[in-house]
Order: sequence, then C-alpha cells, then structure tokens
Amino acid sequence: MPALVLLGAQWGDEGKGKATDLLGGSVDYVVRYQGGNNAGHTVVVGDQKYALHLLPSGILSPGCTPVIGNGVVVDPAVLLSELSGLNERGVDTSKLLVSGNAHLITPYNVTLDKVGERFLGKRKIGTTGRGIGPTYADKINRVGIRVQDLYDESILTQKVEAALELKNQLLAKLYNRRAIDPAKIVDEMLAYAEQIKPFVADTTLILNNAIDEGKVVLFEGGQGTLLDVDHGTYPFVTSSNPTAGGACTGAGVGPTKINRVIGILKAYTTRVGAGPFPTELFDKDGEALRTIGGERGVTTGRDRRCGWFDAVIARYATRVNGLTDFFLTKLDVLTGWEQIPVCVAYEIDGKRVEELPYSQSDFHHAKPIYEMLPGWTEDISKAKTFSELPKNAQAYVKALEEMSGAPISAIGVGPGRDETIEINSFLS
Ligand code: GDP
Ligand code: IMO
Ligand code: MG
Repeated sequence: MPALVLLGAQWGDEGKGKATDLLGGSVDYVVRYQGGNNAGHTVVVGDQKYALHLLPSGILSPGCTPVIGNGVVVDPAVLLSELSGLNERGVDTSKLLVSGNAHLITPYNVTLDKVGERFLGKRKIGTTGRGIGPTYADKINRVGIRVQDLYDESILTQKVEAALELKNQLLAKLYNRRAIDPAKIVDEMLAYAEQIKPFVADTTLILNNAIDEGKVVLFEGGQGTLLDVDHGTYPFVTSSNPTAGGACTGAGVGPTKINRVIGILKAYTTRVGAGPFPTELFDKDGEALRTIGGERGVTTGRDRRCGWFDAVIARYATRVNGLTDFFLTKLDVLTGWEQIPVCVAYEIDGKRVEELPYSQSDFHHAKPIYEMLPGWTEDISKAKTFSELPKNAQAYVKALEEMSGAPISAIGVGPGRDETIEINSFLS
C-alpha cells in the first residue's frame, strides 16, 4: 500500500491530525500538499497535546519523514517558530523536507488578507487572517515568491519589488495603509533563508522514488472537501484544493500512484467562518455539541458552528474524492442523546434533493430532512472493537456508512492515539 491520501470530508477540523498521527508510526513519509498555517491539527500523545499548523502531523512519529509539498504556502516565521516549539519539547524535526517550489507567505500578504476582510465588512469570508488567499492569488497571478527565491538575492529583490508595485497602490489608495518598503521585506526573508536551507529539497523526486521503492507515503490534507476552492461552498472556501486531486498537483505525484483515499468524517458537523451550513444548530443541542466536543478553533480560537451529521455532504465527499474508506471521528461526543437526528436529504423549494446542489442559491435554501436514530448512554471511550460498542452506536455507524457511500474503516472514541477502533487496516 505505497500511497494514501487522508483528507477532511466536511468543512475541516474532522480530526485529520489525530488520524495522520495514528498512521504515522507505520508510514515512511507524511506530506502536506496544500494550505498553510490556516490549518490547526490537534494531536494527543499520552498526556502531551500538540497543536500543529503548518507542519505535517507525521512530525511526531520518529521513523517518519515529514514533507511540505510544492502546493503548500509557507510562512517562514511560522515554520521556524513551530519547529523550535517542537524542539523545546524534545521532538526531533531534523528529517523535515520542504519543497523549493512551495510559495512563501510574505508579511504584505498577511496584511492584505486582514485589511481585505475588513473591507468586505459583512460580506467577509471569515478567513484565518494568515495570508493564505493573497498568497495563492499571487501564485496564480505569477507574482509569487517561492522558497527557492530565498537563495538568489537578486531574483528575490526583483520579485518582491514587482509584487509590491501594485500592492502598495492598493494598500495606500484603497485601504489607507502605509506603503511597504520592498528592501525591508527582502531583508526579513533573507534572515530566514539560512535556517530553512537544510530542509529544502526536490520533494517531487524524493516522493516518487520512495513510492517506486515500495515505501509508504501518506498525503495529509488541510481544511476539508467543502472548503475546496473548486468543489466547496465557493466563495466561502479556502484558496487551495484539499480534495484528493490536490495531492497530485500539490506533491507532484501522478494519480496512478495513489492507492487509497481516506475521508475523515466527524460523527456530526462543524464549520468555522462564514458560509452556508444546512444542519447548523442554534439551540441547546448545538451548544452541547460545542461543549462536549471541545469545538473551538485551534488556529483562531473562534467557536465552531455545530450541527447534526449531514449525509448529503458525506456522499458528495465520496464522489469528488473517490473515497475508498472513511475514518469516523468523535463518536463518543454523541453519547447521551436519546435520539440523534441525521440529515439524509435536503428540501429545496419544496422538492426533495438527495445530492449536493451545484447552484449556490439552491444550497443557501437547502433545509435538512432528518431521520431520527436511537442514541446510547454507555461510555464508549474504552471500546477497542466494533462489537464492544452499544448496539445503538453500532447501528448509528452502520447507518452513516450506508448513507455515505464508502466503508467506515476506523472509529474515533476519544482524542488520544489509542482511543480508536480499527475495523479494516488502512495499510493492508
Ligand atoms: P483537524 O483540523 O482535522 O486535524 O482537527 P482539529 O484538531 O482541528 O479538531 C479535532 C479535535 O477533536 C481535536 O481537538 C482532537 O484532539 C479531537 N479528536 C479527534 N478525534 C477525536 C475523537 O474520536 N473523539 C474525541 N472526543 N475527540 C477527538
Ligand atoms: P483544518 O486543517 C476549519 C476556513 C476559515 C474560513 C475559510 C477561508 O484545521 O481543518 P483561509 O484563512 O483559509 O483563507 O480561510 O476557511 N478554514 C478552516 N476551517 N479548519 C481549517 O483547517 C481551516 N482552514 C481554513 O475559517 O472560513
Ligand atoms: Mg483543525
């Protein structure tokens, strides 16, 4: 099983960090292929809790080589501080590889992300303010700065000057901000260059060779399917492709090399930031999911919006990613409800709709059609096998599997590495 993709099947925060970390001990490479430090992945190892933003979750597994692929946007200051934070806690980060083709998040793009959101007022996306959108926009506009540019001062200077020529007009004339001096940006970037240099590599070559040699490579998505710029709830999305195809472009590995695509699926639904969310709850059930599930953003500290499980979205994730398996997380959070509503379809303008509508206006009008499934009260956090789950919890999992279109191969019953029920091995 040389190459697997692990990605979010909903709006992010499904528990990708835990799932990647769980597999990390058995894989040779863990690769981030898109996004940047907008991600917030919590990994709990024993009594230690780690919050990772930019680094792949595999960095916590000693035998594993963590890789930041070409499709990622890298804030060099965040990279270095995340590395030193882990080093202080005794984590060896020396194996990290960073693609020379990855784009850099520069301070002016962080500023533009923040002032741009303010400018949008109530039409804002609710971004993480980390400079993600403006950096990907620069990449597509061909005015981006790449990791490799740090090692050619003259090219770096030319590129920063070219980028700021337009951006300074925007900052000064539209946003009423002081123009930024290109020389200052170049100096700041150059100050990071030497510290990052040991990690910079031709990651595409290394990863393709590794797969050809039968090594196990895991591609770890940030964000989630519904936040994908092409397949998500545009424009309320992030600016990259967390869906499975993004692993190919964001790491330089062809689709024929990928054997398995695992969707991480929360047993209910959450979302951070603005945008449609049919099963969102505004009552005490929503508050209970938030409190019991600890649904507060790892990156921005914002409360996550919470709602019931949405099977329409899960089916859509199966379709656009070609999912082979699901990893169902946070089943333990649902313990204690007498009945658990699950959205099986939408009602849109009086009609029952089974598939995610492609029209933005239709999705904004979608009303969930719920089926009630019986709940359970027993503590499930110690369950190690499927048969140890209460009958109603088993039935809940089976019903979700039936509705979602791919087998559920693992179930999370707590945040810790060992609080997982494995049904089918992901690596066989
Ligand atoms: P990610 O962005 O997809 O990696 O997810 P986050 O780390 O942002 O949010 C998931 C949260 O749920 C984290 O606090 C995890 O420690 C926690 N978590 C993951 N799996 C489980 C689970 O099965 N049960 C419980 N109770 N918590 C979990
Ligand atoms: P992980 O990897 C949840 C959301 C933001 C905002 C939108 C665009 O932890 O699942 P951006 O800063 O990316 O331009 O913001 O995307 N968002 C996330 N929501 N989990 C994430 O990452 C997210 N990364 C971005 O809240 O709505
Ligand atoms: Mg997260």
